[in-house]
Amino acid sequence: MAQAPLATAVSLAGGLGFLAAGTNTSSLTASLSHAKKLLNHPEASPSPLSVGIGFIVWGSDLSTAVQAVRSFVPAAIWLFSPRLTTDLVTWSEKLREASGGKSQVWIQIGNVAAAVEVAGLCKPNAIVVQGADAGGHGLARGAGIISLVPEVADALDREGHGHIPLLAAGGISDGRGVAAALTLGASGVVLGTRFLAAKEAEMKPGHAEEVLRTSDGGLNTIRTTLFDVVRGTNRWPAEYDGRGIANRSVEDEEKGMDSEENRRLYEEALAKGDGGWGKEGRMIAYAGTGVGLVREIRGAAEIVEELRRDAIAGLEQTRARF
Ligand SMILES: Cc1cc2nc3c(=O)[nH]c(=O)nc-3n(C[C@H](O)[C@H](O)[C@H](O)COP(=O)(O)O)c2cc1C
Repeated sequence: MAQAPLATAVSLAGGLGFLAAGTNTSSLTASLSHAKKLLNHPEASPSPLSVGIGFIVWGSDLSTAVQAVRSFVPAAIWLFSPRLTTDLVTWSEKLREASGGKSQVWIQIGNVAAAVEVAGLCKPNAIVVQGADAGGHGLARGAGIISLVPEVADALDREGHGHIPLLAAGGISDGRGVAAALTLGASGVVLGTRFLAAKEAEMKPGHAEEVLRTSDGGLNTIRTTLFDVVRGTNRWPAEYDGRGIANRSVEDEEKGMDSEENRRLYEEALAKGDGGWGKEGRMIAYAGTGVGLVREIRGAAEIVEELRRDAIAGLEQTRARF
């Protein structure tokens, strides 16, 4: 979903867009070349490329990542979900070295202990604090950012890492959420679910409609490992599940259907392509609880500008009220 058109549109609007390498680094070079072209980035430029790359560490190939970072020097490298924390140390060191120190290393964590551990071991340029409302994969046991961000900030301060900027992720879909996260002590915010409804996101029409259709995110999304089970992507470390829109597979599991049958029915729905989304469908739409605030498809630049404008207005209005 997050390929060069979306990532570069966010960056050109003053955010920082990330290319999703996920666990598959095979198309990374093509995505980075596309991003470089869209950004009009000169060949001999001493500045890094204005996009980041997101890697899912447990399932990605480090040598392909090193090659891509060496050739394209992205502004930031995003690391998430290692099997072992020591893998993050190796990835941070190798990718920093590959970029000649020009790419920042951002690490996404989901609890206070992990924040303190990665701050000490990896010296990240930023820590992404992912709360339980986030769409996509995250820790099964977690807290919302309203308590997680300030507790992480206090713990890092205590341990001498208070200078590391925190970026809040999870459940932020509009300017009010951005204002709240900044008030909690975050230096910036990360939005995933909101950009599923960006014009530039690579979404099948049925998938996008499902995102727009879904409201009441706490009720209609669920944290589960079922989506990985039916998709056959269940090699995630045990502490992770994922939040997505509750669908027919979830309902069937709740009624007692076994995983094999559920998986077979998913494969059948998959063969129907774009026909399988919706409340009665089995196609998977990872999304956070903020999905209920996502109501229309807009250009990514417009979304970034609106978030910034509404956050500033929200902070000013709050100040005026109290
Ligand atoms: C469809 C989707 C796919 C995601 N894929 C990844 C991923 O590949 N790597 C990653 O680190 N985080 C991924 N995330 C999680 C984001 O990093 C981020 O934590 C989350 O989107 C923030 O919460 P929000 O969705 O409520 O905005 C994904 C999120 C969504 C919605």
